[in-house]
Amino acid sequence: MYPIINRGTWARVQSVRQVLERFLRHYAAKEDVEKIQVVSLGAGYDVSFFWIQDLIASGALPESLRGRLQFTEIDYFDVTEKKISTIKKTEALAKHIWNTQEEIKTAVDSVNELQSPHYNIVAEDLRKTD
Ligand SMILES: C[S@@+](CC[C@H](N)C(=O)[O-])C[C@H]1O[C@@H](n2cnc3c(N)ncnc32)[C@H](O)[C@@H]1O
Repeated sequence: MYPIINRGTWARVQSVRQVLERFLRHYAAKEDVEKIQVVSLGAGYDVSFFWIQDLIASGALPESLRGRLQFTEIDYFDVTEKKISTIKKTEALAKHIWNTQEEIKTAVDSVNELQSPHYNIVAEDLRKTD
C-alpha cells in the first residue's frame, strides 16, 4: 500500500474515533440513558468495538458504558463472513463477546451473522430497500 493511503486511512480512523469517543463519553455520563447505540454502515474490518472495550478496561471510558452499549455493524456477506471467522479464532477479540470456547462454538449458528447482547454483525447490501 502507498504511504499516502496509509496516512489517509490513519487520519480517517482517528477522526471517526474522536467523534465516537466524544459521543460515548457524553451519553455515558447521562444516567437516564439506558442504551447507547452505534450503527456502523459499511463497517468493513474496522475494530472500533474492540477498541472501545480496551478503553473501558483501561479506565479511559467509564465502566458504566459496558452494559449499555449496543454496537451493530453492517457490510456485505463476504466481508462479514471473514470478520466473524477471524473474531471467533482470535481470543483477544472473542473474549469481549463470549465467555468460553463452548459459547464461541454454539453462540453463532450462522457464518454471516453475529448476534450477542452488545455486539452484532449483519450481512446486508445497504442498497437494498426491500
Ligand atoms: C472504505 S471501507 C470503510 C470501512 C470502515 N468503515 C472503516 O472506516 O475502516 C467501505 C466499506 O463499505 C462496504 N460497503 C460499500 N458499499 C456497501 C453496500 N452497498 N452495502 C454494504 N456494505 C457496503 C464495503 O464492503 C467496505 O467494507
